[in-house]
Formats: sequence, structure tokens, C-alpha cells
Amino acid sequence: MKKLIVGNWKMYPTLSDSIVLAGSVRSGLEGIGGVQVVIAPPISWLVPVIEHWKRSLPNVHFGAQNIWPDDQGAFTGEVSAYMLKHMVKYAIVGHSERRNAGEDDDLISRKVSACLRWRIKPILCVGETRKMISGETVDQNEWRKVSKQLSEGLSGVKKDSIDDIVIAYEPVWAIGSSNPATPEYCLKVVERIRSNLKDKYGSAADMVQILYGGSVESSNAAEYLRHPEIAGLLVGGASVKAKEFINICRAASSIK
Ligand code: PGA
Repeated sequence: MKKLIVGNWKMYPTLSDSIVLAGSVRSGLEGIGGVQVVIAPPISWLVPVIEHWKRSLPNVHFGAQNIWPDDQGAFTGEVSAYMLKHMVKYAIVGHSERRNAGEDDDLISRKVSACLRWRIKPILCVGETRKMISGETVDQNEWRKVSKQLSEGLSGVKKDSIDDIVIAYEPVWAIGSSNPATPEYCLKVVERIRSNLKDKYGSAADMVQILYGGSVESSNAAEYLRHPEIAGLLVGGASVKAKEFINICRAASSIK
């Protein structure tokens, strides 16, 4: 399966930044096949970015950084999966920055279900706040938090739709910190996540793509991507630097 690279532009670029960035990313990605790319601009710039993108590239899709689970109604400031269904193929759900802002697993689970209802692939973010692995020792308290985020976030997901789920393993301490988890650390957690999914979904869980995110740059991307267990990367800060992001996508495309 092709690697999946997700660019989460967060609340970084202004409208004019986004248009310039989209133009540079588009031309940089034109010659790069062999990788699936998702671009998640701030929601207010989604339409201008899509319009500016013009001709679509078959391997590049748009994503939302967040969605609201109800379809329509009195939810000031929110945008629903239903409203985005024709614009995005993916949506990031349960990012730690949203969990910090007060989202709980129940809301996140409703968001996951809303995405599936409207044929948007949810990218469910999970991750511990404090480092949980030191050598061979795993801090069970921290792991339990990740395992709870997984089981509760996926509580509405049945076996027949598990292959539409993407999991992003993002240790919170590694996000925006210039202190990424080592690939070895990451692999240990990814293995636990996979086995947790298998306990619930059996062999159907083999189809779930598990990404890594947290201080990924073009200089370290290949270290993660060369492991078949790591299906791709969720990139924040480096995704708003066109050259960096294109180089990460290029690294992903050269992995066989
Ligand atoms: P970062 O962010 O790449 O800037 O660490 C990743 C994320 O928050 O998804």
C-alpha cells in the first residue's frame, strides 16, 4: 500500500499564505506518484485553496482539521461532516490540540461515526502525554490512556467499516517539540495499537493504516517510512513549508 502523508496546516497560514503554499505544493507534487497525500488547510481557506488548486492530482486529497458530528443545527462556529462531504476525503479527529481544548472521547467517537456516515475517512489521533517507554519498560498508566482513546474513539465503528479508519499515533510530548519519538519507540507503540485493534476487529484490523506524527521533518521522515508497520506520517509545522513537505512526500514515494 502507498504511504499516506497528511499535511495539517493547523491555524498557521493566512489566506494569502495558503494560496501561495497550495500553488507551490501542487507544482511540487505534480511529478511525484507512489504516495497518497492529504492537505488539511484551515477550514476558512478550504474553498479558496480547492479553487486555486484547479486540476486535481489523482493522489492528492483534501482533509478537514476537525468536524462537528451533528449534521445541521444550532452549533455556533462549527462545521459538520455533512457540510464537508463533497470537499474533503479525510478529517482529523481527536487531535491532542482539540483534546486540550476540552474534547472528550465521547465527542470524538461521535465525530468518527459522523465521518463514516458521510464517507469521510476519519484520522483518529491518539497519544500519551508523558513518555511511556523507557528501554523495555512500558508505563502502563500512559498506555492505558492511549488504549482508552482507541477503544472509546472507535466505540461506534463496526468491523465492516474499520478499513476506512486511519489512526495517527502522536505522542503529545513529541508534537511541535523538535523532539520526535524514535522510530524504535514508535514501532513498539504501533505494535500495541495494532494488537489492540486486532483484539476487537480480528484480521480486519490489518487494513487500518497507522501513521506517526510529532516533529516530523524531511530530515527524519524516511527513518519512519522505511518500516512497513508505519503507514505514513501526520505532519504539522513542516507541512506549511512547501519544500519540506514536498521532500517528505518524495521520501514516501521512494519507499517500496
Ligand atoms: P508537528 O505537529 O509536526 O508540528 O509536530 C504534528 C501534529 O500536531 O499533527
